Amino acid sequence: MISCYNLKTGSVTMWKIGNVAIKNKVVLAPMAGISNSAYRRIVKEMGCGLVFAEMVSDKAIYFKNHKTLDMLQMNEEERPIAQQIFGSDKDSFIEAAKFIYENMHPDIIDINMGCPVPKVSIRAQAGSALLKNPEKIKEIVSAVVNAVPIPVTVKIRSGWDQNSINAVEVAKVIESAGASAITIHGRTRSQGYSGKADLDIIKKVKEAVNIPVIGNGDIVDPISAKKMLDYTGVDAVMIGRAALGNPWIFKEINEYLETGTLIDKPSFNEKIDMIFKHISYLKEIKPEKLVCLEMRNHIGWYIKGLKNSTEIKNKIYQTTSINDIISILDDYKKELGE
Ligand SMILES: Cc1cc2nc3c(=O)[nH]c(=O)nc-3n(C[C@H](O)[C@H](O)[C@H](O)COP(=O)(O)O)c2cc1C
Repeated sequence: MISCYNLKTGSVTMWKIGNVAIKNKVVLAPMAGISNSAYRRIVKEMGCGLVFAEMVSDKAIYFKNHKTLDMLQMNEEERPIAQQIFGSDKDSFIEAAKFIYENMHPDIIDINMGCPVPKVSIRAQAGSALLKNPEKIKEIVSAVVNAVPIPVTVKIRSGWDQNSINAVEVAKVIESAGASAITIHGRTRSQGYSGKADLDIIKKVKEAVNIPVIGNGDIVDPISAKKMLDYTGVDAVMIGRAALGNPWIFKEINEYLETGTLIDKPSFNEKIDMIFKHISYLKEIKPEKLVCLEMRNHIGWYIKGLKNSTEIKNKIYQTTSINDIISILDDYKKELGE
């Protein structure tokens, strides 16, 4: 592992997954329907060290499903980037990993062993269902490691349920199968998103393996990011929900880790301008109808808590054109802008 010394604080910030250098300790979580190329470009500009692309199905890649192939779009400026795959069958994992490596050239392939949604974990026996079967984990991870010449990582939860917390055992299996890093979300599959992420299990996983570990769950600000890093000793932290409508969180955490300073929150104008940028990046990869649909949620997140936000959200929900969205936001800016 290489490292680079921060002169201001003496802290080590750069780290590596396999041969992939990562400039800081803050990474974007894979989030289905969110972590596409447009969103990843935005968080990258805000200082995110590594982005995980939303999960794609191994079978959908295998059968060259067009919608899924579209989801694989990535941009040079997003590097380093990890593309996540979910599935349950070794052979289609191999095919999907090879296809993605050969056609999209991500820096890392990530395997999903954490998804709790029934469609994935029960119907497809994929995602977190794999946690119940360490033998299968070994088989899949070694197969993917042998199939592509780039680092392979795995994202897990603490276990299937409270009675089967096996993240330490699973992490050792993953390491012995040749993976280059592990992300652990400190919740069981049956917890979904309820309760609190368990920092102790994250710490145990970090202590049990020699490959880098990324800690995940409930990081909402610089303080909670530092707490996870200090308490568990993980190499980096992964941010999911707290980055929705708040890509500035990456800058805030980096600044805090490097200098101990809490920087100012983005202004009203900065938020609206970020929405405009988000729309323009999305326009490059999706048709207008999808841009409008996708931006509905994002705009809600960006303007949450601002004056008249509910009224603006309702207006945005009724529009189906980008020009209308922009004109609603322009008026909002005239009304409240600084
Ligand atoms: C909308 C949404 C979509 C998600 N999609 C994925 C996914 O595709 N792959 C995955 O491994 N985890 C997925 N997750 C889980 C996150 O990566 C992360 O583990 C979880 O949100 C906990 O982190 P947080 O507390 O920072 O949000 C998703 C979470 C959310 C909220």
